[in-house]
Amino acid sequence: MGNFSYKTIEDLHKDVKKYNLDLAFTDEISLLFQPIQLPIRNGAHGIPNRLAIHPMEGFDATETGDPTQLTHDRYMRFGKSGAGIVWFEATAVVPEGRSNPHQLMISDQNIAKFKGLIKTFDEGRSQLLDQNDTSVKVHFQNPLKILQLTHSGRYSKPGSERYPLRAKLNSELDTAMHIPPESGEVVTDEYLDNLQENYFDVIGLANEAGFDGVDIKSCHGYLVSELLGAYTRSSSLYGGELIEQRGKFLLDIVKRANKEFSDLIITLRINLFDVLAQPNGFTTKKLDENGTPVAFDLEDLHVILDQLYTHGVRLVSFSAGNPYFHPYLSRPFVQNAFNGPDSPEHPLFSYARIIGLLREVHRYHPQLITIGTAYSWFRQYGPNFAAGEIARNSFDIAGFGRMAFAYPQFPVDLFKNGIIDSRQVCIACSKCSELMRIGSVTGCVIRNNTYSKIYKEAYTEFQSKKKKE
Ligand SMILES: Cc1cc2nc3c(=O)[nH]c(=O)nc-3n(C[C@H](O)[C@H](O)[C@H](O)COP(=O)(O)O)c2cc1C
Repeated sequence: MGNFSYKTIEDLHKDVKKYNLDLAFTDEISLLFQPIQLPIRNGAHGIPNRLAIHPMEGFDATETGDPTQLTHDRYMRFGKSGAGIVWFEATAVVPEGRSNPHQLMISDQNIAKFKGLIKTFDEGRSQLLDQNDTSVKVHFQNPLKILQLTHSGRYSKPGSERYPLRAKLNSELDTAMHIPPESGEVVTDEYLDNLQENYFDVIGLANEAGFDGVDIKSCHGYLVSELLGAYTRSSSLYGGELIEQRGKFLLDIVKRANKEFSDLIITLRINLFDVLAQPNGFTTKKLDENGTPVAFDLEDLHVILDQLYTHGVRLVSFSAGNPYFHPYLSRPFVQNAFNGPDSPEHPLFSYARIIGLLREVHRYHPQLITIGTAYSWFRQYGPNFAAGEIARNSFDIAGFGRMAFAYPQFPVDLFKNGIIDSRQVCIACSKCSELMRIGSVTGCVIRNNTYSKIYKEAYTEFQSKKKKE
């Protein structure tokens, strides 16, 4: 289904037409290098271009959550990339909320290490600026550095075993992860009250470390995302029928953070839709026979976005779905991880679903600066599709995830050459996801030799372990 055999962008457009999809693309990619002003309390923060690197976990932190050499290498590459926003990967707010024992985690003990990581990123960017003349510099200087803060909720795996900290019970999601229903727990309101305090502590640390902003991660089925769709969480301040209940945890944090940290940008990455339909998920109304979301009610999302705006949020990154359940919905692939089920729809449909909803959201909330997603599958044509949709105001900034693992310098190459190199692009093979599932450090297995070697070893070890089981 996802095979990518397009020799030209016109070939790709033939399929867009064949499937009757409303998708724009353009050769006029200069739009991607127009700066945009993000309003902040005392003026505006200029974002130098319209290309963002999405948060991409490398799972290479120490057991105490400190960045390692592999982490530094990644952020050096992202520094040199030229992207206007670099969204630092999911970083846990509490040890029990890590999705992997090697996920980054920021704490009082390692704040100096995070300062060091920012220094590495800044050095990368300085090197890029030093190597180029002034006309180039203006498009790449002062990128926005956002740290994504997370609690993995039902996907928590702080040690060698999973320990789901669910917002609500759901057997379908448990089954998808082979998680026995009796494992872990549903978090109490008291747990969530205390967790809010942890968020404030960590937001303070991110501020001190030198990030421009923090993302209260609200996507992909992790804790805050699951709360937004927790209709069936009963007798709780943080769940139930009303969006005021389901959104309370997120809004409480944003409200207080905006008051207490006046120099920090408070933002979030939020799902446009969940994998399960209401009352088991956020905004999704109906699934088809393959389990693909086909009808949506964005009312709750509009309410949340309005309230976030009232409390000072001006930048929102959008995503969708759940990486552990129907990953094709938010990260279209050519090959699913571990030869898993093929996508039941052509990736163009998955992309069109996201873009259609984003277009609608941006129309309702033109005052927000929004970030779109799902471009890596498009390979060398990603920038053309991104620019096409930005031109018609579907969103303001295009985020790239897997592409940044494969080809971190794509923004600079695009600026200089007007195209990106088809021999360096992400091929959406899902090997980075395989590494993640195996519990290894992760990166691009195809384009980065470090990870090709790691993959060979990790995969062999994984297979021999499986045989023994
Ligand atoms: C290995 C891997 C790690 C990821 N880590 C994060 C993360 O830390 N936070 C997040 O919000 N999304 C994460 N994502 C999702 C990406 O940010 C992005 O939404 C997704 O890959 C789709 O964009 P793309 O088509 O450009 O890759 C990750 C995806 C992969 C494959």
